[in-house]
Amino acid sequence: MDNPWLDLPLADYEGHMALPGIEQAQMLSDLLADAIAQFEPQSIAILGCAGGNGFDRIPESVARVVGVDISPRYIAEVEVRYQDRFKKLELIVGDIQKTEIGFAPVDLIFAGLVLEYVESDKVIARMRSWLNTCGHMVTVLQLPSTTCSQVSSSPYSSLQSLANIMNLVPLHALQHRAEANSLVQLESRTLDSAGGKTFQVQIFSPSQMHAPTYSE
Ligand SMILES: C[S@@+](CC[C@H](N)C(=O)[O-])C[C@H]1O[C@@H](n2cnc3c(N)ncnc32)[C@H](O)[C@@H]1O
Repeated sequence: MDNPWLDLPLADYEGHMALPGIEQAQMLSDLLADAIAQFEPQSIAILGCAGGNGFDRIPESVARVVGVDISPRYIAEVEVRYQDRFKKLELIVGDIQKTEIGFAPVDLIFAGLVLEYVESDKVIARMRSWLNTCGHMVTVLQLPSTTCSQVSSSPYSSLQSLANIMNLVPLHALQHRAEANSLVQLESRTLDSAGGKTFQVQIFSPSQMHAPTYSE
């Protein structure tokens, strides 16, 4: 089965995420900006970057920006929008679950609402290898709701194609998997969106107890 993200027009996705009452685009962009202000990274990777939501919040002085997405059309749009903004913009089309997709370690990984679309256990193990020893990984997960559907209804009916492949990730499972990969959870907080959904923001950093030792 083809991944429905490959057929979903970016305009539909962005229109849906920006709708009053959904407003998840603004929420994710704000969370990225907060993480940048908190950790002042010199290199940043956005996993599942879509059309570059939040890239306008990354200071131009950041030395290296990596954007990864499974959709070649989304990545092409990120290139059009941001190729002149950063000193080094690495754009990667591919499935973050696949071993051939990867990049040199960065100071900050931001994974906002993407782990719901992958085998999260597999990807978290890979995320550690994409993180510098003193780096930080910020994840945003959607939490279960008894009142909201997983994919919100909106005039963009094409978004409903995602309902079949979206799987909420239990936040304790994420924490356990991260810890199994030598990542320590530094923060975990709940965030209510304007649209009535609830999200969990978790911040991890490599455990210094497991830091590799180098001999000269
Ligand atoms: C809900 S959106 C993420 C939101 C995005 N970070 C934002 O701020 O708008 C999920 C994104 O992950 C991408 N994606 C889904 N599965 C993927 C995979 N296996 N590998 C890489 N990207 C994937 C989709 O194409 C989509 O752009």
